[in-house]
Amino acid sequence: MVSRRGFLTGFAVASVALTAGCTRSGSSAPATAGGSRPLPIPPLAPSTVGTDGVRRFSLRAQAGKTEILAGKSTPTWGFNGSILGPTLRAKRGETVAFTVHNALPEATTVHWHGMHVPASCDGGPHQTIQPGGTWQPSWTVDQPAATLWYHPHPHGATEKHVYRGLAGIFLIDDESSALDLPEDYGVDDIPLIIQDRRLTPDGALDESDPSDIGLLGKTILTNGIAGAHLPVRTERVRLRILNGSSGRIYRLAFSDSREFQMIASDGGLLIAPIPLRTIQISPGERVEIVVSLRGGDPVTLRSLPIEQRAGISKAAAFGFDDTFDILSLEPDQKLKPAAPLPASLAAIPALVAPGTPATRTFDLRWHMINNQRMDMNRIDMTIPVDTTEVWSVRNSDNWPHNFHVHDVQFQITSIDGQAPPPELAGWKDTVYTTPGPTYLLAMRFAGHTDPTYPYMFHCHLLLHEDQGMMGQFLVLAPGQQPAPMQMDMPGMEGHGAHGS
Ligand code: C2O
Ligand code: CU
Ligand code: CU
Repeated sequence: MVSRRGFLTGFAVASVALTAGCTRSGSSAPATAGGSRPLPIPPLAPSTVGTDGVRRFSLRAQAGKTEILAGKSTPTWGFNGSILGPTLRAKRGETVAFTVHNALPEATTVHWHGMHVPASCDGGPHQTIQPGGTWQPSWTVDQPAATLWYHPHPHGATEKHVYRGLAGIFLIDDESSALDLPEDYGVDDIPLIIQDRRLTPDGALDESDPSDIGLLGKTILTNGIAGAHLPVRTERVRLRILNGSSGRIYRLAFSDSREFQMIASDGGLLIAPIPLRTIQISPGERVEIVVSLRGGDPVTLRSLPIEQRAGISKAAAFGFDDTFDILSLEPDQKLKPAAPLPASLAAIPALVAPGTPATRTFDLRWHMINNQRMDMNRIDMTIPVDTTEVWSVRNSDNWPHNFHVHDVQFQITSIDGQAPPPELAGWKDTVYTTPGPTYLLAMRFAGHTDPTYPYMFHCHLLLHEDQGMMGQFLVLAPGQQPAPMQMDMPGMEGHGAHGS
C-alpha cells in the first residue's frame, strides 16, 4: 500500500526525531545552519494481518518528554511515543482492530475523527478508557480515500488531552491510489499537523488563561516541534494538512503567494484539483494541497490574518490578526521530475437534489447548540438508519465556531442560498461557520445502528466542546427503541471498555 522506499524513508526521518521510548530529549535532530530541524514524519504504525484478514494495530496513550523547542524538554503526552502518534493506514474494505491501552494517569478516549464507524467504536465520551485500561474497537473501513485523524474525546477534557500532544493521522486508501498523485509517504506525500502552543519559560506547556476560543499560543508546532523545515527532493509535494489546534484558525499561503492545487478536503479527494493562493482551515479540518517547487528555491508556508471576520467581536483576541511562518520548504538543487496532476480526481454524486430544504436546525451561540449544553444522559435526536438528512447550521454568535458531525461525511449544499466555493464542495466532516450565514449540510446515516451509544455533533473549538457545545444522536434500525445508558448509574461509565 506504500512503497518500501517510502516506508523506510519515512521511518528513517521519523526515527531521528521520534526516538524509541518516550523521549526526544538528548537526541535532538541535526539542525541546519539556521538552527531549524527537519520536519519529523510520524512513523507509519506497524500492523499485522491475521488469517482472518483483520488488520490489527495497537496504540498506547502515555506521558513523555519532547523537545518542542530545540534544547528544551517539555512534558507531553503521545500515542506510542512522547507526542502525537503513528500514522494509521488502512484500505477501504479492510476490517481494522485496535488495542488501545491507557497508560496515562487519567481516563481518556480515542475518537476516529471523520470515520464511518459503529457508535460503540466511535471513541466519543461514552467509550472511556480508565487509567491502566484497554479498549478494543473494530470495524470495516467503508469510505473513500481520505486523511482522517484520531484524538481523545473525554467529556470536558478534550482540549487538555489534545493540547498535551495526543493526536495522529489516519489515512484511508482506495482504488484512487491508481491516480498519479504524490504518494510516497514521508518523501513527496507529507502529513502536516499544525498546532499552536504556549510554553512557560522553563519549557512546560502553558495551560493557563484560555481566551473565549480556548488555549491560543504563538509558538507554532509542525508534527510536534517548533521551527521545522521540510527538505524537498521532488518537483511536487503533497501536504496533508490537519489543523490540530484547540481554537486557532489559519489562513495558509506561501511566502511568495504562489499558486497551489487543493486536491482533497476532510473526507477525500475533490472532483478536480482547484488552484488557490490561500486556504482557511479551522480546528479539526483537513486540506490536501499539492505545491510545485523549483530546485534550490526555498519557500515558506505561512498563516495570514483571517479575512472572514464579519460579525466577530474582539477578532484580535481570537488570533485573527496574527501572522506566522508555519514551515519552510527547502528544495535540493536538483529535483525529481513529477507528472502533471490528473485533471479529474473523484466522482462526488450529490446526496440530495439542489434546493432540498433542511430537516433540522442548529443554532450556535456562546457554549450552546439550540440553547442547550451537552448532557451525557440526554439524547438530542434519533435518526432512522439509511436516511439522508439536511441540517441547517447557523452561528448566531459574535464568536467563531465550527460544526463537526460524527459518523458521516457531509456535503455543503448551500451557504446562505449560494453554492459553496469549490474548496468547500467536496466531502466535509467539519465546517467553519462565520457569524450570520446559514450552512445547509446534507449527510447520509448509513449502515450502523445502536440503541445505546450515541454519536456526537459539536463545535470543534475544543474549549467550546468541553464547555458543552455538543449534542448526541442515536442512529436506529426500523422499530428500534432508544435505550441510552445512564451515565450516573454506578458502574456504567466506560461500559464497552474494560480495565486490564
Ligand atoms: Cu474531532 Cu467529536 O471530534
Ligand atoms: Cu469526530
Ligand atoms: Cu465554538
